[in-house]
Amino acid sequence: MKERRIGYEALRSKLMSAQDAARLIAPGTTVGMSGFTGSGYPKAVPLALAERIEAKHAAGNPFSLRVWTGASTGPELDGALAKADGIEFRLPYNSDPIARDKINRGEMEYFDMHLSQVAPMAWQGFLGPLDTALVEISGIRPDGSLIPSSSVGNNKTWLDRASQVILEVNSWQNPALEGMHDIYYGTALPPHRVPIPLVRPDDRIGETGFRCDPAKIIAIVETDAPDRNLPFKAPDEDARTIAGHLLEFFRHEVARGRLPASLLPIQSGVGNIANAVLTGLVDSPFEDMTAYTEVIQDGMLDLLAAGKLRMASATAFSLSPEAAAGLNADMERFRDKMVLRPQEISNHPELIRRLGCIAMNGLIEADIYGNVNSTHVMGSRIQNGIGGSGDFARNAYVSIFMTPSLAKGGAISAIVPQVSHVDHINQDVQILVTEQGLADLRGLSPKQRARLIIEKCAHPLYRPALSDYFERALRSSYGKHSPSLLAEALSWHQRFVETGTMMA
Ligand code: COA
Repeated sequence: MKERRIGYEALRSKLMSAQDAARLIAPGTTVGMSGFTGSGYPKAVPLALAERIEAKHAAGNPFSLRVWTGASTGPELDGALAKADGIEFRLPYNSDPIARDKINRGEMEYFDMHLSQVAPMAWQGFLGPLDTALVEISGIRPDGSLIPSSSVGNNKTWLDRASQVILEVNSWQNPALEGMHDIYYGTALPPHRVPIPLVRPDDRIGETGFRCDPAKIIAIVETDAPDRNLPFKAPDEDARTIAGHLLEFFRHEVARGRLPASLLPIQSGVGNIANAVLTGLVDSPFEDMTAYTEVIQDGMLDLLAAGKLRMASATAFSLSPEAAAGLNADMERFRDKMVLRPQEISNHPELIRRLGCIAMNGLIEADIYGNVNSTHVMGSRIQNGIGGSGDFARNAYVSIFMTPSLAKGGAISAIVPQVSHVDHINQDVQILVTEQGLADLRGLSPKQRARLIIEKCAHPLYRPALSDYFERALRSSYGKHSPSLLAEALSWHQRFVETGTMMA
């Protein structure tokens, strides 16, 4: 079985242990790793690397790396390397709790960036040289092309740009993955860019494997280890109510002729609420839907299984452990309904605008004017990162943000006078939904938006304080276009930092 995974005879001589492969990565270098959420990340070499780094540190020698990936990865990569103090710089997205703590303690540099921009920036040279590509694949064909695994992410770019390549061939990945990928080789830098020839979510515009110069491959490690994602929280009452408001909105838009009956290609962000909304769509009247999105979560598999979703295009799976095992065992059933692409293409602004995606993303907090903070708790502690939310929100046909109106048991209002950090400016936030209701902000002025958001989205516990703030701002703000009380606008956050609650 393993023999058949490496079909290119000459490369078998590169087989070695994870420990030997880890020795080929030098301190202070940059490693571009595969991995997007808990899918398709290398599972053996990073662990061996972490052991090596710990041993070097114990002997008093410095050893750390610059780590680039597709997005978040698994505990065997980010968790292990962060625990070993092995990452000095990380991009473009992280959700690992150990790495998050290091970043928030100021012990790790982190560049959180739009996911569509990682590959072009790497090509432009702004990120510096890439020394090693460490990429999980599911096999090597006789012609030397590489069969991708359960995520594509930035792998094409890492393989193209790196000076040396280490491959992990994971025989846990189902061979039926072969043929599901669409690796586009037509991107270029300005002034040589040409339109990307994708006009429907199911169009195939590339190849089913990665090209890779065999001369660059210095090591191949065989693994047999599952992808590890975190389980989704079961949708609670709030998540179901948010899903209900959204379904009502979609029905209304279809009735008004502003959306077709099959909707438009859906993009669904990461997190529990986004997953709950997808689950809610299973019982909706919409048929023949498509998804042009970043990740395929449990809820999207449910939609595919129910026949509601015709197909889904993404860059990775982002499944709970049960759903990942289930899909892996039943890949044949789904493989013709899914396409996995490089994240540069799954998140490409040109394509998102052309297809007219319905973007649905989570948030940390929104302010009464509709600006959204997706990333920073109390303005300074990173939660995950902007991920692809900016790629989709700016370019979608309709951009929806959703959240429960309260966090941390009511100590935090998700609707605040002013966001403590801005990821999405109000122009990119068209629909705001909480369990309290849905605010359609399209075409509204700042003051109109504020009244609607307070009325429809704020929790009753905080609604009077928000109204009071807004009315006083209307009277005494320096300008009356977007009224603001500068000394008070962030006082709710300050109160939380000092007392543990935003409540006065
Ligand atoms: N203040 C403090 N903490 C907050 C908060 C707030 N205003 N809002 C949410 N949180 C915390 C929650 O308490 C929870 O913490 P816990 O894990 O310790 O329980 C955590 O953030 C996740 O929140 P949850 O309510 O479970 O929502 P979620 O799983 O839907 O995630 C985001 C919400 C914003 C964190 C998530 O959507 C995200 O990272 N978004 C940015 C990236 C993105 O949108 N990618 C999609 C592109 S395709």
